[in-house]
Parts: sequence; structure tokens; C-alpha cells
Amino acid sequence: MQKILVARPIFPDVIERLKQYFEVDWNNGDVLGNDELLARLADKDGALTAGEPIGAATFAAAPRLRVVANMAVGYNNFDMAAFNAAYVLGTNTPDVLNESTADFGWALMMATARRIAESEHWLRAGHWKKWNYDSFLGADVYGSTLGVIGMGRIGQALARRARGFDMRVIYHNRSRVAPQIEAELNAQYVSKEDLLKRADHVVLVLPYSAASHHTIGAAELALMKPTATLTNIARGGIVDDAALAVALRDGRIAAAGLDVYEGEPSVNPALLTVPNVVLTPHIASATETTRRAMANLAADNLIAGLGEGPRAGRPPNPVNPDVLGKARS
Ligand code: GLV
Repeated sequence: MQKILVARPIFPDVIERLKQYFEVDWNNGDVLGNDELLARLADKDGALTAGEPIGAATFAAAPRLRVVANMAVGYNNFDMAAFNAAYVLGTNTPDVLNESTADFGWALMMATARRIAESEHWLRAGHWKKWNYDSFLGADVYGSTLGVIGMGRIGQALARRARGFDMRVIYHNRSRVAPQIEAELNAQYVSKEDLLKRADHVVLVLPYSAASHHTIGAAELALMKPTATLTNIARGGIVDDAALAVALRDGRIAAAGLDVYEGEPSVNPALLTVPNVVLTPHIASATETTRRAMANLAADNLIAGLGEGPRAGRPPNPVNPDVLGKARS
């Protein structure tokens, strides 16, 4: 039997599925430190990860490793040049999380615009003595301009929901989406600068890469309307969190909603001191249905990638399909 490591706690029934095909080493505890991760991968043929850094050092320590299945759509934790050089297959879990993540983007954007978290904390702290005409005045969502940066599958799901709120949708992306998608979403392609100047609510849904590092920093925040909100459901590092904390403190923008952070699970302490930010712990895809679908899809990818099960050799979501069928180097 081939051996795999499941690097994180995961639904136990998915572990049972994997045990039908593999000898499973399951880390059902804290996140593994790098040394322990490498030690436990040393004799493994495959791994199921959720954000663990995987690259040349991993492959040097794990000469048999052929497939790494990430339980996430984003796979910026994979060094793809190292995967390709070693002929290791990487897989991700796209599509199954689109709608839940778009729902959450809206929840966070609306909580940010309407100051839900800030007012709830105030109420819990016992400050509510009377109704006041100007308590927690927020920004309208209905009828406003939504700016989506990153118009992939999740960005499109997010933009589709804007129709019900009678919003203008502007977007920026590495490349324009097909005209029929623009028409369906009633979305207009604009430059990043234009988007930042015009949008009432900016939502970030782009993948992290060296090119998208600090897509939003001090200069970009300075372009936004002082009444605007910024929501990041993409990845930490796309926003310069220190610059954002300053912009929030100084009222350069009205408010922000963050689900992801630079260096998470640590959160920049300056963000914890400003009231006009809603902070959630990387839960945009966290519904029971979606997380189960992601876990099962990661398992499907691992099973098929390692040549087992009904789809042997044809994993559903290879991120570097060119290495399929090639021997590990
Ligand atoms: C979650 O962040 C994902 O990439 O799926």
C-alpha cells in the first residue's frame, strides 16, 4: 500500500475513505512545524495539505513524494517551479467553494459597510442607553458601485449577486473576461486606479503571487474615496496590512473587512486597535457543505493522482498537468 500524510485535522470519514487506498499517517493535532512536516513526509508517496509550504526542501526530504493535494483553491503555498522540476503533481479544490465564498464576501462587505461588528461590540459592552439618529451611520450598499479586483470564478459569483442590489459593477483583472460574461454580470472593465477612485465598495478576490503582493498599499488606499470600504477575502499579502491600519485610523477610508492576513494566524496588532475593521479568521469557505466538498475533492485528487480508484491517473484538479504520467525526479 502507498503511504500518505494528511497534514491537518480533517473530517474523519474522509480519512476512512483514504484508508481504503493508503496507509494513512494523520496529523489530527496542531499545525506541524517544518522539521516535523519534513520528517513525516520522508517515506510518503502523497500528502494532503491545507497551506503547508511545499517546495524543493520538501522534495529533497521526501524522495518518494509524487502528489500533494491542497485542500484550498489557492495554492500559493506550493513552489510550482520546484514541483515542476521534481515532477511532483500539485492539485487544488476549485469551484466547489465559489458560492459559499461569494456569500461570505457579501456578508463581510455588508458587515463592514453597516458597522455590524463595531456596533455589536458596543452593545455587548453595555453602552446602549438610547436610540440616536446618528449612531453607527454606515455606507449604503444598495445602488452603490461595487469594485471587484480579480474576476475569476469567485469574483464572478460575487458580481452576479450585485444585480439584486442594483449596483454598478466595475472590475479589474489580469485580463478582461469574455464579453458574454461581462454582459451577463453587467460589469465594466476598468484600470485598477479607476476602480479605486470610483468604487464605493472594493472587494479583493485575486490569487496571491509575487505580482499581486501588496496590490493594495498606501498609494492605492490614498486613491479610494474616504467613504469607501475595502474587503479582502483573497489572501494575506495582497493588502499591506500596516498601511491599511494607518488608513483606517486616519479615516482615509471608511472601513475594511478582512478574512485573510499577512503572516496569519498572526494579525497585525495595529489592526486590532482600530474599530472600523471587521476581522474574521479565514472562514470564507467555511460551511459544512463546502468544507466537506473541499475535503472530498482533495481526497479524490490524491487517490486519482496516486493511481488509485475509479479515476486512476486522471485527478480532477491538477495545477501542473504537464507532469502527469512522468516519473518523479
Ligand atoms: C482558501 O483560502 C482557499 O484558497 O480555498
